[in-house]
Amino acid sequence: MAGNIRLKICDDAAQVAIEAAAMFDELIRANPDSVIGLATGSTPEATYAEIARRHKEDGLSLAGVSSFNLDEYWGLGGDHDQSYRYFMQDNLFRHVDILPFNTHVLNGKARFPQLECEGFENRILAAGGIDMWLLGIGGNGHIAFNEPGSGVDSRTRLVSLTQETIDANSDGRFFSDASEVPRCALSAGIGTIRESRRLVLLATGAKKADAIAAAVDGPFSEDCPASLLQDHPDCTFIVDRDAASKLSN
Ligand code: PGA
Repeated sequence: MAGNIRLKICDDAAQVAIEAAAMFDELIRANPDSVIGLATGSTPEATYAEIARRHKEDGLSLAGVSSFNLDEYWGLGGDHDQSYRYFMQDNLFRHVDILPFNTHVLNGKARFPQLECEGFENRILAAGGIDMWLLGIGGNGHIAFNEPGSGVDSRTRLVSLTQETIDANSDGRFFSDASEVPRCALSAGIGTIRESRRLVLLATGAKKADAIAAAVDGPFSEDCPASLLQDHPDCTFIVDRDAASKLSN
């Protein structure tokens, strides 16, 4: 059951990035004050590079844009080179004209995590909600750090990472050893994400094929958090051929 999910299957990861960047480009040019949701991980890096290129070469301005990131490692400050604040600064923010005070990344060192999470939800509401949120997907179907079993109405909160996610993030791309990976994170909930007016999920590579098949063809189930997007009214999955290889048609 694919529900309402719109699928765009691209030849390769480079094309996925171009398609995703084009959707944000179109949104932002139509409404320069757009509120966008962002993601970290390897997959969106090329999309951010393409958005930065469009800023530099094609006059795309993010000066009026506000952004909200999905998650942050618990215990890492924004100056830590594996924090998601640092990732965003390095991969996107420093390359474009978004204003620092309009970028919202959860504070992994907040003294009171529950207040930090409530504040994040309130800042989204104060901004008028999110127009379009970029998502990745874990090999186990997670979105943000909403691991299997996360509720469809879950909100921003402190969560534990699964061993699978810890291992995936210590394969040398990010942390070099599993012992370095924080065990917890602050993460927007599935309910938080589902309230975004539009969703764009990216997946590349064969390692994501099972998760994409479960999300699109499987049941609407907490066992695969990304399947909980099936009834969203405006959700697009942009995937390459390898990530699409286990889809039913
Ligand atoms: P990745 O992570 O882009 O690094 O594969 C995606 C995710 O775990 O959400």
